Amino acid sequence: MPYQIIDHPLIQHKLSILRDKSTSVRDFRDLSAEIAMLMAFEAMRELELEEARIETPVAEATVHRLAGKKLALVAILRAGLIMVEGILDLIPSARVGHVGLYRDPETLEPVSYYAKLPSDIAERDTFLLDPMLATGGSAVAAIDRLKQEGAHHIRLLCILAAPEGVAAVEAKHPDVEIILAALDERLNEHGYIVPGLGDAGDRIYGTR
Ligand code: PRP
Ligand code: URA
Repeated sequence: MPYQIIDHPLIQHKLSILRDKSTSVRDFRDLSAEIAMLMAFEAMRELELEEARIETPVAEATVHRLAGKKLALVAILRAGLIMVEGILDLIPSARVGHVGLYRDPETLEPVSYYAKLPSDIAERDTFLLDPMLATGGSAVAAIDRLKQEGAHHIRLLCILAAPEGVAAVEAKHPDVEIILAALDERLNEHGYIVPGLGDAGDRIYGTR
């Protein structure tokens, strides 16, 4: 499945501020949620609609409502949480799942510590959320877990990715559509995206 870059000018402008090392924790948090909401707005352009008849105060009218499967938003902890917050402003009734993973700083391998998913995830369209797709280890492990629980229509929404991360997800889960705000140059020797934006979790929560 090819990846998609959402290059809307508003998203790119907000991303330019997000990348800046002088951006405050508060602004970083707000911008991450806003970018996620704008990305989801674009990504949901394909959702199915169905016709319904209603009465306005003036006349009967044919209107269009969302049809099809319900949505699940799944955050990869910690940093994916801020994306859930932004997207819930658009789709308040979505169900929310959490997959707890952190990347071992030495091996760069994902370490799993938590998972709680909607019980009917198999019947939902799932958006897996993490601002950063670096080696791809965390995303691949999260998708493995989602599939074990029965999810089969999964889209991965990340703000930034390295080519290595996109390749890893495409190799292991070719059915998963990857949606990005930007694809950066490479990973450095510590597994950080270059030029990137640093450690997303630390910048969102002010932990460094
Ligand atoms: C970051 C990020 C991704 C992961 C990406 O999380 O939010 O989950 O790294 O790296 P990968 O593609 O090489 O797996 P981190 O492990 O720092 O955990 P945190 O969000 O709890 O800080
Ligand atoms: N995780 C992050 O938060 N940032 C990176 O650049 C890579 C992994």
